[in-house]
Amino acid sequence: MKNFTSESLRETYLSFFESKGHKRIPSASLIPENDPTVLFTTAGMHPLVPYLLGEKHPAGVRLTDVQKCVRTGDIEEVGDDKHCTFFEMLGNWSLGDYFKKEMIPWSFEFLTSPEYLGIPVGELAVSVFEGEGAIPRDEEAAELWKKCGVKPENIYYLPRSANWWGPAGLTGPCGPDTEMHIIRKPKCSPECNPSCDCGAFMEVWNDVFMQYNKTENGDYEPLSQKNVDTGMGLERTLCIMTGAKTVYDTDLFETAIKELEALTGKKYLESEEITKAYRIVLDHTRTATFLLGDVKGIVPSNTDQGYVLRRLIRRAVRFGRNLGLPEGGLNKLAACFVKKYENIYPELKENEQKIYAELSAEEAKFSKTLEGGLKEFNKVISHVPGNVFPGKTAFRLYDTFGFPFEITKELAEERGYTVDKEGYDKAFADHQAKSHAGSEQKFACGLADHKEETTRLHTATHLLHAALRKVLSEEVSQKGSNITEERLRFDFNFPRPMTAEEIKAVEDMVNEVIKQDIPVVMKEMSVDEAKEQNFLGLFASKYGEVVKTYSIGDFSREICGGPHAEKTGDLGTFKITKEQSSSAGIRRIKAVLQK
Ligand code: SER
Repeated sequence: MKNFTSESLRETYLSFFESKGHKRIPSASLIPENDPTVLFTTAGMHPLVPYLLGEKHPAGVRLTDVQKCVRTGDIEEVGDDKHCTFFEMLGNWSLGDYFKKEMIPWSFEFLTSPEYLGIPVGELAVSVFEGEGAIPRDEEAAELWKKCGVKPENIYYLPRSANWWGPAGLTGPCGPDTEMHIIRKPKCSPECNPSCDCGAFMEVWNDVFMQYNKTENGDYEPLSQKNVDTGMGLERTLCIMTGAKTVYDTDLFETAIKELEALTGKKYLESEEITKAYRIVLDHTRTATFLLGDVKGIVPSNTDQGYVLRRLIRRAVRFGRNLGLPEGGLNKLAACFVKKYENIYPELKENEQKIYAELSAEEAKFSKTLEGGLKEFNKVISHVPGNVFPGKTAFRLYDTFGFPFEITKELAEERGYTVDKEGYDKAFADHQAKSHAGSEQKFACGLADHKEETTRLHTATHLLHAALRKVLSEEVSQKGSNITEERLRFDFNFPRPMTAEEIKAVEDMVNEVIKQDIPVVMKEMSVDEAKEQNFLGLFASKYGEVVKTYSIGDFSREICGGPHAEKTGDLGTFKITKEQSSSAGIRRIKAVLQK
């Protein structure tokens, strides 16, 4: 097998698919656009959901990319040799274009040809969907693999639990898949197959044949177009190709590990405890660097994405402290990651100063109280009868010392205690603070689909954006947007609360445009043309050359992926329900459409 670096693996994958007529598109933001049910982009297909459902993508019907992803569902597992909160997914898509008979031979070629990964055919095992109900066993995929040369004994038919992907949330595009695995060692039993976790097989790639849309009542409707969605984890494939035992042993972490050794005087593999602390500090700092450096860069806060970011940084500080990492150390590690990734993700370089400023501010804030908090924790725990740490104290640690609940929980668990979560929540509610339970729930589920309600609210968001610029100032621009079926939420830069008159003026203006029943017009054009014609768009070059633009008469012009209502008359009555501060210099509006 060929040897690879992270750089050459990304490039090999993307150029392979370019040679098959795919357009290379940049990674989308880590913060999903208009998706209320999930905090972060969790898979390569995630930003492409509208296009899998039939929206036209400006770059065409064959796409390939490497997508940044964050999954923080098992943040407490980080420190072992497999969990990471940040990863990259190599992927290629057919949006209603090619299907199985093209994709399977391409997968085979990429995996086995000496020009690409060069994995020996005998070491390749695949699984295909065994069928269920009206959905047949995927003989077509199996036949295609056989024709390529995969040995029949290495083709496995497996149930939905193993060979079905999606929807990412409760509803949305999904379908049977075929998964490719490297055979690592002899099977543990005659029944052993790629879904066994004995380590005989290691998944390397997944081709999803997305041909169904799961609806709210659990039915699978055929999609209007048949798509292919494939995903190959960069880190895992890099480990396979280089023989690295864990992602931390790849080039991705090489300079950061050296830096951490220099800063702490401790060796990465010195002891189990040190290795674990190293991995936590490295993983969390890398993820924080990417979140702060994202085009929709977020900052540490007490809710939603900002809270997760805060948790990551504070946990890194705590474990860094155990290693003897001096204050300011996280920035030095972040600099290693910026340098390592800046050619692939130029936003890191562009936001470099912001990354360092926010990271060191959060580190300084927490370092100041960490010691006091640990003292308080130790004092309280030595007096706790039984093994339940009081929720009220956990809240005090949060409120006074900035300990996210999860840090207290982790500290307590290290000593064999649990924490009274109910008591903590009650104390939290008593202080009228917003619980972060909302953000925890959001880890679990996935994407929203584009129901009519969210589509209408999306169009209303454009109207609101335009009205704010007219009523308040041309300087106003979108800093964040989030839409549920019930309401829209819109963040924008403005230095003070809006007055009641201004709120009314914005509402009236939006409702006037709704009354005029103006068509919403989509047009594709180059980024330069769009800029010339004064289309707004923070993420102007996200999709490379050609972008989709939406205009609503002369009132609103934005670069946007859609979807939108057909005309403003479909929206109903627009009402602002809340205007509040979101963070320094940023206001937040919540608004609804009434029937
Ligand atoms: N969506 C599939 C996955 O995440 C393939 O990209 O595995």
